[in-house]
Amino acid sequence: MSFTVEGSHVQETEDLISSSFASHGTSVEKDATTGKYTVKPYTREFIFQTEKKIPKVGVMLVGLGGNNGSSFAGMIIANKLKIKWNTKQKEMQANFIGSLTQATSIRLGKCGDEEVYIPFKEILPMVEPTDLVVSGWDINSMPLGDAMRRAQVFDYDLQQQLYPHMQKIVPLPSVFDPSYVAANQGDRANNVLALPKKEDQVNKLRQDMREFKEKNGLEKVIVLWTANTERFSVEQDGVHDTAKNLMEAIRRNESEISPSTLFAIACILEGNPFINGSPQNALVPGVVELAQIHKTFITGADFKTGQTKIKSVLTDFLVSSGLKPRSIVSYNHLGNNDGKNLSAAQVFESKERSKKHVVDDIFDGNPALYEPGEQPDHCIVIKYVPYVQDSKRAMDEYISEICMGGVNTIVLHNTCEDTLLAIPVMLDLVVLTELLTRIHMGEKTNGGEPEMHNFHPLIGCILGFLLKAPQFPKGVPTVNSLFKQRLCLENLFRACRGMNTRTCMGLNKMFN
Ligand code: NAI
Repeated sequence: MSFTVEGSHVQETEDLISSSFASHGTSVEKDATTGKYTVKPYTREFIFQTEKKIPKVGVMLVGLGGNNGSSFAGMIIANKLKIKWNTKQKEMQANFIGSLTQATSIRLGKCGDEEVYIPFKEILPMVEPTDLVVSGWDINSMPLGDAMRRAQVFDYDLQQQLYPHMQKIVPLPSVFDPSYVAANQGDRANNVLALPKKEDQVNKLRQDMREFKEKNGLEKVIVLWTANTERFSVEQDGVHDTAKNLMEAIRRNESEISPSTLFAIACILEGNPFINGSPQNALVPGVVELAQIHKTFITGADFKTGQTKIKSVLTDFLVSSGLKPRSIVSYNHLGNNDGKNLSAAQVFESKERSKKHVVDDIFDGNPALYEPGEQPDHCIVIKYVPYVQDSKRAMDEYISEICMGGVNTIVLHNTCEDTLLAIPVMLDLVVLTELLTRIHMGEKTNGGEPEMHNFHPLIGCILGFLLKAPQFPKGVPTVNSLFKQRLCLENLFRACRGMNTRTCMGLNKMFN
């Protein structure tokens, strides 16, 4: 590691970084008669312990043969082999641009007159992306070399170089339920588990994970759903509500349990973290309870990549400047298989939900601008236009009220290769999820050593920067604002390392 931290609050051994951290918060009380609030600042002392040894990590992608799946595998291989290729303009080199962990920095502080920054990935020991072993499932049997060509994401010259390496990877047969995706996906399904019972399907997925782990000598496996968006499961009491009911429902082969929920359950039972990169409600309450019982991380939903990332920044800017958005309209058209699947109404609804809620908390937390429950009009449209392939077009219009009856209209047009924004985000989710499995925390109380705990299984509250609709533990308020989400990650890791968190007050520069 490129730096050490000094101080009595932090100890580093060969295996462990231990730090204590004072968290300053405020509690608020309301006087029942006057309605007046009283704010009481408090301090809580936490201990963090981070295991330093980076395990050998395997990633299993559900949807390995899709645009994201094949391109993710290609990105890892191209970086491992340091592949260079020619485009029309120039020679390119494999990279991880767009990844928070691999392509952004963290400020350490001032060294004389010099501002010192380190790469984000050096704040704590993180797995090297090129050390990841990649495998997974797909309902389509196409080997990954051909799948990469079908995706049309990488430049031709890069495809040619990757092909022999990727063609060796063949997706495992998967669980498929056609009622959960668009009917137009049926012709892809030639690699489906011939197991009619859901209980057998879960057991087979568990066996696949164990075999992958053993065959590759892995210490940890992380599973990431990057398969088709599914429609929402209709959550029912007695089926989805508790861990026990869900497991019983699987035994009686209940139909309203989605493939993504079955994957989540198989992962939890194997102790492998499960990340849901699509918008559907895979993590129903019974799954969350099961994850709590087995102390396994689950997170979702939906990668936060282009349009939604911009939305969470732009809306935050407008509202925190005191401007009042009244209408937000987002159009997309795209021509890849994801777009084709989203052309079915029920599937589109899943995407619409995750895209819509991304700004709710920004309005809810601003009583100076919005009445309780008041929200701007918010409309999402997605159309399938095959010609544009993976080059997604996003057009957004934000109309806000400004001072004294004025109107501010902002219109954006964004053209971008959808998949090439998503794969670095997938990488970050894997790298950070793995790191979080090695961090334990406890609260210092007056007597004795604190009891150490893992984080709550719903780590979306930490990884919200990477997710459109991060699922938070009950009672923890949702935060969608992008830079708050980034600061949350950075400050958590700074605290684990024994560094002060960033307040951005710049106090040391304020004296005359
Ligand atoms: P894709 O359609 O190219 O790939 C999905 C793959 O999943 C296909 O190969 C399909 O055969 C496979 N599949 C379908 N059902 C399966 C099952 N039950 N088990 C295993 N495999 C199955 O889609 P793409 O572009 O790779 O996107 C994947 C997911 O990521 C979609 O849900 C999309 O909404 C989500 N996403 C993508 C973003 C992006 O920028 N590319 C951003 C946010 C989310």
